[in-house]
Amino acid sequence: MTVDLIPAGWLRRTATRIQRKLRALFTPDTATGSSVESAYARWAPIYDWVFTAPLVYGQRAAAREANKLDGTLLEVGVGTGLSLPLYSRKLTVSGIDLSEPMLERARQRVAREHLGNVAELQAMDASDLTYGEASFDLATVMYVMTVVPDPAKVLAELERVVRPGGTVIIVNHFASERGVLALAERLLARFSQTLGWDPLFRRERILAHTSMTLEHEERLGPLGLFTMMVFRRP
Ligand SMILES: C[S@@+](CC[C@H](N)C(=O)[O-])C[C@H]1O[C@@H](n2cnc3c(N)ncnc32)[C@H](O)[C@@H]1O
Repeated sequence: MTVDLIPAGWLRRTATRIQRKLRALFTPDTATGSSVESAYARWAPIYDWVFTAPLVYGQRAAAREANKLDGTLLEVGVGTGLSLPLYSRKLTVSGIDLSEPMLERARQRVAREHLGNVAELQAMDASDLTYGEASFDLATVMYVMTVVPDPAKVLAELERVVRPGGTVIIVNHFASERGVLALAERLLARFSQTLGWDPLFRRERILAHTSMTLEHEERLGPLGLFTMMVFRRP
């Protein structure tokens, strides 16, 4: 006779309850527009509390790279502005995001922390930037490429608004080739609709859609869960 330490029925019920809660958090709300906007409207009040610890590695690494440079920086998908205090004051920073509730929190952070080098925070779609050609010296994009519907369009926009010779820094989770992480990602992929991001997004999808030169690539954070790519626009 075998005795289950964790009964299968209890596991199933718990998994269903978690899935229901996640679905409630992410299900598109027709009253507030697109699914991304409604999802982040729900995340905004608790985003910092949930995500500061796991995302800080990538934000610090991107800021470290950005701070080697000076001039104008565009942060695409700036969210609640967790990374804004990490940038050197010699960078003039603009931030855009699709979600007004996330931006509102970023604005509060700028005021609270007296971030005088943050020039503007605007609602804008990363795949349709209103900035002109070569408007920025560099751009950072953290944890955004896997939540946008058309990453190729976002890459094309980044390439357009960063000046020739400028830098684009992308931080994201990309699908693992093998091991426990690859297995976990395959399991998570079943909930990708509910989670609002694609755990099986491969780094090749970035490389295939840009003519920028990959100058540096680095695994970051716990278990190398995240990757930073530093590109130069030709
Ligand atoms: C996982 S959060 C990352 C936020 C921030 N970069 C950070 O490191 O905390 C993804 C952000 O991308 C924004 N976003 C999603 N789709 C977007 C789009 N098409 N254009 C602009 N921002 C978008 C969301 O509103 C959200 O704030």
